[in-house]
Amino acid sequence: MELERILRSQGFGSRPECRALIVAGRVSVRGSLCDDPYAEFDPEGLSFGVDGSTWNYRKFAYLLLNKPGNYECSQKPRHHPSVYSLLPRPLRTRGVQAVGRLDEDTTGLLLLSDDGQFIHTYTSPKRKIPKVYDVTVKHALDETQRAALLAGVQLNDEPAPIAAAACEIRAECLLRMTVTEGKYHLVKRMIAAAGNRVEGLNRVAIGGLSLPGDLPLGQWRWLEAVDLERLALRVP
Ligand code: URA
Repeated sequence: MELERILRSQGFGSRPECRALIVAGRVSVRGSLCDDPYAEFDPEGLSFGVDGSTWNYRKFAYLLLNKPGNYECSQKPRHHPSVYSLLPRPLRTRGVQAVGRLDEDTTGLLLLSDDGQFIHTYTSPKRKIPKVYDVTVKHALDETQRAALLAGVQLNDEPAPIAAAACEIRAECLLRMTVTEGKYHLVKRMIAAAGNRVEGLNRVAIGGLSLPGDLPLGQWRWLEAVDLERLALRVP
């Protein structure tokens, strides 16, 4: 594939913009400067540099972000900055989107991708992908609340009760809860229906993929093949 097309596919702009970058001597391939926009390379496994930053060619982008509070999962945020502002420009240009949304005050594991099939799979209600949250609540937790969440709580506008797939009291006001649906404010509404109130919500896992403990809030990283395999595991 021509270098110009490779850069375009990776989010470095339109073809004329990519051509200009290459001709200006700002692009290297496998460590050597390449100023020919039409030079041919096999993109699979290709490593290239733009303005000194190294990138690996990826047909699709799969990433995870440790979402901080006070960020919105929207391209047009209303009250806070967008999570997309935490990503480098090429990822935004190539159309990376959040896989489902977290509330602006929710922190933790957020997947992003530009693979429409992947986004569909991980947002489809039919798939019942487990999502694990650490929930800080206002009032001390008790067995009655835990049992109610496991048995299913009735939410307004829902035809049937919704149950947590797993629920573990970890401290007086800290619950680890797994849900398999992706409805609006689901955890907050379930906790309210069980007679408590969410004070803090942190997503710690999706499927078998956990939020890496060493990834600071606001930072992202690529999902590698092993992460994608873990994600597909249904470990609640
Ligand atoms: N449930 C909520 O209430 N909020 C989130 O952000 C995610 C799940």
